[in-house]
Order: sequence, then structure tokens, then C-alpha cells
Amino acid sequence: MSYIRFEKINKLFGTNHVLKDIDLDVEKGQLVTLLGPSGCGKSTLLRCLAGLEQVTSGHIYLDGQEITDVIPRRRGIGMVFQQYSLFPNMNVRDNVAYGLKLKKLPKAEIRQKVEQMLDIVGLSDKISQYPAQLSGGQQQRVALARAMVTAPKVLLLDEPLSAIDALLRKNLQIEIRRIQQQLGITTIFVTHDQDEAMVMSDMIHLFHAGKIEQSGSPEQIYTHPATKFAATFIGNYNLPAAADFNRVFGSAIPGKDVAVRPEIISLSRKPVEKTADLLVAQGKISSHISHGNLVRFTVDFENLSLNADVVYKNQMDFTEGDTVYAAIRKDLIVAL
Ligand SMILES: Nc1ncnc2c1ncn2[C@@H]1O[C@H](COP(=O)(O)OP(=O)(O)OP(=O)(O)O)[C@@H](O)[C@H]1O
Ligand SMILES: [Mg+2]
Repeated sequence: MSYIRFEKINKLFGTNHVLKDIDLDVEKGQLVTLLGPSGCGKSTLLRCLAGLEQVTSGHIYLDGQEITDVIPRRRGIGMVFQQYSLFPNMNVRDNVAYGLKLKKLPKAEIRQKVEQMLDIVGLSDKISQYPAQLSGGQQQRVALARAMVTAPKVLLLDEPLSAIDALLRKNLQIEIRRIQQQLGITTIFVTHDQDEAMVMSDMIHLFHAGKIEQSGSPEQIYTHPATKFAATFIGNYNLPAAADFNRVFGSAIPGKDVAVRPEIISLSRKPVEKTADLLVAQGKISSHISHGNLVRFTVDFENLSLNADVVYKNQMDFTEGDTVYAAIRKDLIVAL
């Protein structure tokens, strides 16, 4: 059996059916992400695992034991919430040391572990400060340190980086991932940010309205969205109707919609030969948006527009009005 198993989990709040027959397995030592839009049930599933919510039906197993009805503090689970909750009357050192003191570890060991963890989250210089003297992002990092320092069996992270600015957030994503792998802590991470999910996860479970829409590695989910919802949520897919796409490219892609990533469309001024593996159509650049490292060009065809990404080197490759040939490798196209 996997390390954590959710079996046919249903959760209702009154008549609101929030989790619908969720089956989910987490392997030991993995970082698994629950990704999905607001209100789809991510936090509720974490809270059920932590024992902060009762499931309406279904079973939860941890390390071979059923824990569905076990009280929260017997589950060996550490959690960092969406709204972090530090002890306001304790300084940073004491907040982080809290769980270790409960475990009655020797003082010198507590001191060393706390200082090491604060170094990892970049807060060594705030060790004597109180939560009210810290920024939101700093408080969030204290909450992370406090949860990780006890090396729990399972770590639950519910959007722990949402209050943190972009650059620090990117660094912390990599740091959390590094610490998690180093300590081998089985972790369930919740986010609605696809980039964050890509960077951090062994496995992603994409949630949609109380159900798992798709599960897979970051690469699988990114390159092979199973549904239109998945393709809308992940990457920056072009999602034309198959009929329109086939008309312009002279192809016969089956299904209702076609999912084409902007980075698999290559643009050139010179004609490109169409082959069995390569679709080509002539279009016109209608607009572009600069994203720094890449430029997203919109190419207009007859009753069809597609975005194509080009890596920016030192100049714009095309301007509005340019005629271009758009070439797409057939095997990278996803039929939906
Ligand atoms: N204690 C509660 N009582 C009643 N309804 C609740 C409770 N907690 C959550 N819900 C409802 O359950 C649904 C899912 O909420 P949940 O917090 O799990 O979503 P989420 O995916 O974590 O969203 P977000 O990304 O906004 O945090 C929502 O419709 C919410 O209103
Ligand atoms: Mg939530």
C-alpha cells in the first residue's frame, strides 16, 4: 500500500458536496501537489488528512494504519496553513522551538536545530523578534521553519508562499523542495499556481470542482493535458476548435478541440515544406507581447488565431503585418 491513501473520500458541508469520491495515493518521500482553482476542495482534503475535518464517507490510511478517526495530534502530521498562525507572545526562536520542546529534546539540540532551520529560511537575524515585528512573508517563513524542524511523518503545506513576493517565493520554492528531498519528508503541497506546482512536485493532482481531473508528473500534465479544463489551467495552450485548425493546416486531427502549446509553433519568413510529420500554414503577425525571455506573437490565419512563443535573443524577430510560415510538429499536438 502507498504511504498515504485516500479511499473514496466524500465531504459535504450541509448540501455543498465539496469532495466527490476522491481516490489518491502518495508515495513515501514524495512531494505531491494539489493544484486547482479557488474553492475546488484542496484545503478541505488537507484538513481531512490532518484530522481537522471529519470526512463524510471514505477512508484515510497513513503508513499502513487507518487514521480516518484518529485525533489530530496522534497522526504525526505537521501543517502550515494558508493563514499562518504563530504564537504572538513568543519570539521567532521560541516559535520554531515549540514542537521540539514538546518532544523534550535536549536544550543544546533544540538550539542547534532551530538555528539551522532559521538559517535555511533566511531568518537568522530575526531570531529574537516577535511575530508582530515581522512582515507577512517573514511570518510565513517562521511558520514553515516551525513545521519542518520537527521532521514530521507528513508535512502539509497549504499555499504557504501566497503572501511572499515573487523573487523570494521562487527561492523558497527551490529551498522547500531541497529540504523536503534532503529530509525525505512526505509532503502534500497545495497551490493554485501552475508554475509553482511544476517547480516543486513529483506528482501533480489537478482538482476541479471536488474531483481529480488529472494526475501525473509535471511533464506529463504539461505536455499531455487530458481535458480542456486541464489545458486551460496548465501552460498557455492555444485551444482552437479542431474543425478550424484542420481547415487552416489541412490536417485531420480528431476530436472536438486541439491543444497546441505556443512554444511548439515555429515561425519563419521563408516557406517551410509540409511533410507527414510537420504541419505548415501561412499567416500574418497581428500583435506581440514581450515576456522578457520570450516574445508571444499572435498569428492570424483565416478565421483562426494562434499564439507562438519565440525566445528573445537581442531583437524582435517579426513585426505586425509580417507574413510568416507557422510550422507545428504533429506529434506534439494534443487532440481533445
Ligand atoms: N468549514 C466550512 N463550512 C462550510 N463550507 C466550507 C467549510 N470549509 C470549506 N467550505 C466550502 O468548501 C468548498 C471548498 O473549500 P476549500 O477551502 O477546500 O477550497 P480550496 O480549493 O482550498 O480554495 P482556495 O484556493 O480558495 O483556498 C468551498 O465551497 C467552501 O465554501
Ligand atoms: Mg484553500
